[in-house]
Amino acid sequence: MRNVTEDNLTDAFAAYLGDETDPRLREIVLSLARHLHGFAREVRLTHEEWNTAIAFLERMTEFTTHERHEFILLSDIMGLSSLVDMIHSARGGTSSSVLGPFHIEGAPDIPFGHDMKRDYPGTVLLVTGVIRDGQGTPIQGATLDIWQTAPNGLYSSQDPEQDTYSFHGLMTTGADGRYGFTTVKPVSYEVPTDGPVGDLLRATGRHAWRPSHLHFIARAPGFRTLVSEVFAADDPYLDEDAVFGVRGDLIMAYAPQPAGSFPAEGYALSGKVDEDWEMVEFDLVLTPA
Ligand code: BEZ
Ligand code: FE
Repeated sequence: MRNVTEDNLTDAFAAYLGDETDPRLREIVLSLARHLHGFAREVRLTHEEWNTAIAFLERMTEFTTHERHEFILLSDIMGLSSLVDMIHSARGGTSSSVLGPFHIEGAPDIPFGHDMKRDYPGTVLLVTGVIRDGQGTPIQGATLDIWQTAPNGLYSSQDPEQDTYSFHGLMTTGADGRYGFTTVKPVSYEVPTDGPVGDLLRATGRHAWRPSHLHFIARAPGFRTLVSEVFAADDPYLDEDAVFGVRGDLIMAYAPQPAGSFPAEGYALSGKVDEDWEMVEFDLVLTPA
């Protein structure tokens, strides 16, 4: 096109794409260009603002390493990660939610009743439930990959004081489909704010808090893998999660339990909990692959 104008530029872009372009790539690139051009037209983007955006992206690359995924964090706080999750969330099962950047591969196998809290301070939380299919039948041999922060609000990969796999574990269900373990009651925490994403949050008057949660990935042969989280019903940040991860069916009341009532057997902490503790019962429903 020889006379490119503000109005025909998007058409010119479409015309430049080769006939052999993969159809899905064509669909994505064309839609992206349409929205990008439309966005610039809509806000009447200035050179100065465009330069600011480029400098922002350059700083994003400076902060991105194998351990620090600043681009994923940007996607998270913009709501894109959650939107992609929701677009592909299976109907009829437990809702999915963001994976986040702190899952690590290779979590150690833990038996039913395992204690992840160890000597960390905080309230003992017993987490249990059944992994089921859509008809309510327990799934044997399902694995539950669990991770959370320590009471200081840091994941093991952020905190040199923690072992690699502290507050990480992989449990396999038996014939009753049940999982169960003890841990420390999770705390609310802030997503990293020392990089460009933190600058963006501050510049737009947003905070970086996530409501307290336990992360999990449930897998079972023949079922779709479920990446999700469980939130505490009394958390003050439930309605303002910085990464838009909260779904109604993932909010659970952690039931307070009096001292002396901890199960006498079946848990590593059986016979060792003298104080008040809490319990959350959360069944997970998987959908067919
Ligand atoms: C998390 O829950 O671990 C998380 C999710 C998104 C961004 C940062 C952290
Ligand atoms: Fe998290």
